[in-house]
Amino acid sequence: MEAVMKTYKRLGIAPTGGRGSWLFDEEGNRYLDFIAGIATNSLGHGHQALVKAVQEQAEKLIHCSNLYEIPIQGEVAQMLADATDFDKVFFCNSGTEAVEAAIKLARKHAYTNHGPKKHEIVTFSKSFHGRTYGGLTATAQPKLQEGFGPMPAGFVYAPFGDLDAAKEMVGSQTAAVLVEPIQGEGGVNVPPDGFLEGLRQLCDEHEALLVFDEVQTGAGRTGHLYAYQGTGVVPDVLTSAKGLGGGVPVGAMLTKEKYAALTPGTHGSTFGGNPLAMAAVKAVLEVVNDENFLEEVRFKGTILKNALQKLADRVPGAAVRGEGLLIGLDLGPELAPQVFEHCLEEGVLVNLIGGTTLRMAPPLTVTRSEVRYALDTFRGGVDAAVSTQPEMAVA
Ligand SMILES: Cc1ncc(COP(=O)(O)O)c(C=O)c1O
Repeated sequence: MEAVMKTYKRLGIAPTGGRGSWLFDEEGNRYLDFIAGIATNSLGHGHQALVKAVQEQAEKLIHCSNLYEIPIQGEVAQMLADATDFDKVFFCNSGTEAVEAAIKLARKHAYTNHGPKKHEIVTFSKSFHGRTYGGLTATAQPKLQEGFGPMPAGFVYAPFGDLDAAKEMVGSQTAAVLVEPIQGEGGVNVPPDGFLEGLRQLCDEHEALLVFDEVQTGAGRTGHLYAYQGTGVVPDVLTSAKGLGGGVPVGAMLTKEKYAALTPGTHGSTFGGNPLAMAAVKAVLEVVNDENFLEEVRFKGTILKNALQKLADRVPGAAVRGEGLLIGLDLGPELAPQVFEHCLEEGVLVNLIGGTTLRMAPPLTVTRSEVRYALDTFRGGVDAAVSTQPEMAVA
């Protein structure tokens, strides 16, 4: 690993195989994967439909080029269109690229219809939209931008959840409002009631596009194919990646025909929509875009959330946030790292965000008994951590 640039803080485990919700290393250890490549292995590991689809497509054709027609790309775009309120899809390879495409589309649309002054992008505190310059500039977290300036101009930031502040910032100069319907990296933050509806109204008033970044919340994660479908607020543009390919890199930007401002020569991607990635997306959608499957995701999410709430009730200041199988257990800076370490020692993989919150995003195929197994481990971790805090142990 010496030759790999140190852009990640890695934990000392090295999985080399996986089956279902479990990962295995060369030493014979097994781990319950309750984070799934950060909301990416939507079908778990080694799912036969996905493996077979990728194998068969690799035999036929891995890549050709967007110089030519790619029939399976059209087929998958139509599947997404049929399952959502959108009718045009641009494929890329990652979440940050989907966000770049959305920003470019919104600016091009505003430029064409209103002129160059309408170019501002409004985003929100604690957001995360990726690491390339557009996505990073949209990411309203100063610590992530530090040292990389100057950032591209034309981005303004409002506090997440504060509609009055957003009202002050959205105006005739606004090309788009970009928001995660539930913030993932920022702490699994659910906006207050009325916030997304309010943004929808603001965008309508000022002819700005409402963009939902569903890179983390999409592809079934919240128990809806896309989280917006559970909110009643329909955005104009949506970004998707992570779970969409079940682990095969792919991203997508969806919009409506009237906003599809990107034309030949204005945007593109060598690998975007390649046959291999499309075969993976098709296999994932065939499993996930099914009402019974999504209902089961919601059911497992409810079991998890209710049980975590009981745990949180024992810890002053603790909170449970999220939807479906994207859940954050905020235990504060004292307890969260201890519980995280306990889970790791017990072989249950979660993710610690901001030093305070355990993020859980298991495969959508996780079984109910695996959810209970993870909960037992979380309980053990909280018990052990609470016992180190005398005032809580008494409570
Ligand atoms: C909401 C959101 N947008 C964009 C991204 C960036 O995706 P990627 O890492 O695939 O570029 C992420 C990644 O965590 C994300 O959660």
